[in-house]
Amino acid sequence: MTHSPWSCTATRSDAGVLNVGGVSVTDLASQFGTPLYVVDERDFRARASAFRDHFSAAFARHGAQVDVFYASKAFLSSQVAGWMHEDGLCIDVASLGELEVALRGGIPASRIGLHGNNKQIDELTRALTVGVGRIIVDSFTEIDVVNELAGSLGVKAPVMVRVTTGVHAGGHEYIATSHEDQKFGLSLATGAALEALLACHAAENLTLLGIHTHIGSQILSIDAFRESADRMLRLRAAFVDAAGVELPEVDLGGGYAIAYTEGAEALDPADAAVEIADAVAQVMEPIGGTWPRFSIEPGRAIAGPAGMTLYSVGVVKRVSLEDGGERQYVAVDGGMSDNPRTIMYGAQYSAAIASRESDVTPVLSRVVGKHCESGDIVVRDVDLPQDIARGDLLAVPATGAYGRSMASNYNNALRPAVVAVRDGAAKVLVRRDTIADLLDWDVPA
Ligand code: LLP
Repeated sequence: MTHSPWSCTATRSDAGVLNVGGVSVTDLASQFGTPLYVVDERDFRARASAFRDHFSAAFARHGAQVDVFYASKAFLSSQVAGWMHEDGLCIDVASLGELEVALRGGIPASRIGLHGNNKQIDELTRALTVGVGRIIVDSFTEIDVVNELAGSLGVKAPVMVRVTTGVHAGGHEYIATSHEDQKFGLSLATGAALEALLACHAAENLTLLGIHTHIGSQILSIDAFRESADRMLRLRAAFVDAAGVELPEVDLGGGYAIAYTEGAEALDPADAAVEIADAVAQVMEPIGGTWPRFSIEPGRAIAGPAGMTLYSVGVVKRVSLEDGGERQYVAVDGGMSDNPRTIMYGAQYSAAIASRESDVTPVLSRVVGKHCESGDIVVRDVDLPQDIARGDLLAVPATGAYGRSMASNYNNALRPAVVAVRDGAAKVLVRRDTIADLLDWDVPA
């Protein structure tokens, strides 16, 4: 299925100005400055609710239940955690920082899951003290550490075992996570996963909830999800044979692909829900027994299309290409510090002039930032009108996931604010860094 990269309330006014959430981008730029991350709250929450509703309905047909954990690494603020809680989702966190922000948003700890391949003692201690709903253990070392820590804190740690199913999927090598040769999880193929389950089952201070897998990110293939569900349920059945216990929970992770450019493919949660539920039914039928409670962890597919970045255009240059053609370089007031995905993963984006419409012929263009390296590219190839000029606002859609959350202060850049828009009103979710912040982090002689 092909999709648009723009959020659902993005429209053009009669004057050609882009509006989102009922607010014009020119108002946003003058009120909050640029670069600016803009989150369309309706879009964000509609996507979250769509995952909740489609997966609940598809699994309910088989009498099973599904929890949706929003993968907060995509983008988190305490207000976003509050939205997710209000909308009936749980939250997955992967660090102490994410845990603290989620808790500030008012989500009960019991609805939080903690991930990480090398969790630190302070993270585990806080998680156990506040009573997170699940800790996803990633190694034999961690099983021992969590068991010991829980014992010393006088609590039982609810754990799931992270399983490497061997299903290779995902948009880029660095975001595929379930093949053997990477750092996450315990291998299904070598028997390590089953062994880890038995170790958790036997551990005095652990309550074994079930198994977890996450096969990668930006995945377009429903087959990969089907295959991974199949392997996970076979592992669950193997645990029944080995320990006589039916694990109550199976988490199938996130990774649902979105469209970054116009007409690109995306995975539709409605289709994915039905297909994954049917795949589960197929494997469960011969196995028999009780269905587990399922969970999924979409991040990008909730936050990504809901967010756009607004830049101000500065320098515009033309360069000659070896093939005789030309490329228009459009420099904006941000760059790889607010969106490292282009340079890290070769991610593709699109862009449009947001403050006006132009009917001047578009030409091959490249949107670049203001950092000190030539790889500082925001959009590698996009057609933009030849009259684009200093002072225009440029919008890059689908930057809501892994944009602000991976932003850096390279060149002592000030990370942009994140503003949510809805029904004609804008409110700040994360404020912009200031020079005072930078000087505060710096320790003078
Ligand atoms: N669950 C777990 C355990 C994960 O590690 C991740 C992402 C997710 C869920 C959510 O995946 P999503 O639905 O967002 O694809 N920085 C990269 C993506 C890294 C994803 C890491 N884990 C990017 O910008 O593409």
